[in-house]
Amino acid sequence: MRANYQNKTVEIIVRDDCIKSITSYFNENIRYLLIADERVHSLYGQYFPTIEDFYLVKPGEGSKTIEEALKIIKFMLDNNFQKEDQIIAFGGGVVGDLAGFVASVYKRGIKYINIPTTIIAQVDSSIGGKVGVNFEGYKNQIGTFYHPEMIIVDPSLLKTLPEQEILSGFGEIVKYGALFDRQICTDIMKERFDISRGIYRCIEFKIKITEIDEFDTGKRQLLNFGHTIGHAIEAKYKLAHGIAIGYGMYLESKNEEIKKTLEAIGFNFNIEFKGLYPYIAKDKKIHGNKITLIDLKELGRADLREGYINEFIHQ
Ligand code: GLY
Repeated sequence: MRANYQNKTVEIIVRDDCIKSITSYFNENIRYLLIADERVHSLYGQYFPTIEDFYLVKPGEGSKTIEEALKIIKFMLDNNFQKEDQIIAFGGGVVGDLAGFVASVYKRGIKYINIPTTIIAQVDSSIGGKVGVNFEGYKNQIGTFYHPEMIIVDPSLLKTLPEQEILSGFGEIVKYGALFDRQICTDIMKERFDISRGIYRCIEFKIKITEIDEFDTGKRQLLNFGHTIGHAIEAKYKLAHGIAIGYGMYLESKNEEIKKTLEAIGFNFNIEFKGLYPYIAKDKKIHGNKITLIDLKELGRADLREGYINEFIHQ
């Protein structure tokens, strides 16, 4: 697949088990720095025998900081990385966003390849060029748009994902189903969802929406479905991102089919989330008292609508 953006065409490869021949995608005349999640590297590091330089990052959101970015930049300067050298990001969204951010600023920008290893990173965060770090407790406050040269997706890597990460990833997959393709939800409900094909389908949607609206000023905001309440749940109840978004999608839309789809993958709707309004009111997408919301007309068909923050006063 190819994603065509204003100043860049990104090649996106989706292939089961391609990790085993991953070095065939690299150019032997290029020096690469492999920036990898520690856990993922301990499981799959042996597939990168030709890469001599690597920098390991601790798993989790705690690594997505400007301090970590500066440490990587210092490492690269100390090890004499040049403008023509490239970065390979190997991990989930944290590693992709962090390594992509470093690539975007190191010597005013060097090329990078992204190899996402979680569902969320494979279907969402690796595509569309958003890179950056968190700052002072707030997500993605420092960042830019910077596309990789290539995104290599191997769904077989998901076999070693921790259970909570799988549930969280399915939250994002249901989001694509709810917004663009009810078949995804139907297949999940009927337990005939094929993860590799499903990932491919979600990537097609992500490419389409980010090609139409690369800089997130219009239709791309549809991808914020569930995020107004979801981010509040994530902040208050410390749930994984996709899980919080799953609950957020139901609470924002009250769509019973979304609820059933999420229940089919293990969401528990006996939990009651309370006191969310103060968190919702801090949403960075609010302008004055207005906020862009998602109007889910039916499963698979959605539009943007202008809403008001006080719609959430009782949450
Ligand atoms: N993750 C939402 C976006 O890429 O716009």
